[in-house]
Amino acid sequence: MTDRYAVIGNPILHSKSPLIHTQFAIQTGQDLSYEAVLAPMDGFRDTVQTLCDAGYRGLNVTVPFKFEAFQLATQLTKRAQSAQAVNTLKFDDGGIMGDNTDGVGLVTDIERNLGFILQGKRVLLMGAGGAAYGVVSPLLDAGSILIVANRTEDKAHQLAAAFNARGSIRGSSYEALAGLQFDCVINATSSSLAGSLPPLPQHENAGHTGIFASDALAYDMMYGQETPFLRFAREQGAARLADGIGMLVEQAAESFFLWRNVRPDTASVIARLRLT
Ligand code: ATR
Repeated sequence: MTDRYAVIGNPILHSKSPLIHTQFAIQTGQDLSYEAVLAPMDGFRDTVQTLCDAGYRGLNVTVPFKFEAFQLATQLTKRAQSAQAVNTLKFDDGGIMGDNTDGVGLVTDIERNLGFILQGKRVLLMGAGGAAYGVVSPLLDAGSILIVANRTEDKAHQLAAAFNARGSIRGSSYEALAGLQFDCVINATSSSLAGSLPPLPQHENAGHTGIFASDALAYDMMYGQETPFLRFAREQGAARLADGIGMLVEQAAESFFLWRNVRPDTASVIARLRLT
C-alpha cells in the first residue's frame, strides 16, 4: 500500500514540498504519495488528528504551525527541543515523533552544497523569531562564532542567552554592528516578505569595507526573486550570494530520511527547482 505524507500549513498553495518529495520518491523507488494540506488557523491539531486517523505516516509542518507541532508531539528529537519548533512529524505506534530539520538543512546547504565551512567563521544571524531559533544549534555545532542581531534588541539577547552554553554566541542591535565584519551573513528575518531590508550598517563605497569580509557569503533563507537583502549584499561587495532553495531541499531530504531511512540525492532536485 502507498504510504501517505503531506505538508500542512496556512497558506500552503505555493509550497514546493510536494514537488520535492515526489522527486525524492521517484528517484529512490519509494512507494509514497505527498500532498499539501491547508489547516484552518485555529484547526491545526484537529487536522493532524484527522490525517493520523486516516493512516498518514508523517507530515511536514510549515508557517504558522511549527510551535503548535512542537507542543503536539509526544516525543521530540534533541534538535526539535533546542529549536522549540517542529517541522517534521512521524506517526508510529509509539505516538507522534517531532523533529526539526531546518537547521541541519541550512548547514548542509552552506557546507556541502556551497562548500563554505563554518568552523571558526564569523557569522551574523539576522532575526530572533522562529526561523532564527530553528537554525542556531546546528550553526553553533558547526563551530561558527555567532552574533545574532535583531530589530527588537532584547529578543536577540534572550536568544543568545538561551544558547550560551552551546557555543560562541552573543546578541546585538543592528547599530552596534557598525565597524564589524562577517564571513557569513544569514537573513532569518521575515523582512524579505515585506520587500524590506534589515537596518544593516551601510558603507558609502561598495567593496570590502562594509560588514562583508572578503570572500563573504550572504545567505537569505527566503527564495524567489532577488531579495532586498541579497541585492544589498551584492551592492556591498559580498563575494557569494545564496537564496533558501538549497536549504528547502536539504531540510526535505532530512525529513525524507527520518521517514524512509533512505537519503535522496538533493543536487538534481535543487537544479530542477531553480528551473521552475
Ligand atoms: P519567523 O517565524 O519567520 O521567524 P517571527 O517569529 O514573526 O517569524 O519573526 C520575524 C523576525 O523578523 C523577527 O526577528 C523580526 O524582528 P522583531 O523581533 O524586531 O520584530 C524580524 N523582522 C521582520 N521584519 C523586519 C524588518 N523589516 N527589519 C528587520 N527585522 C525584521
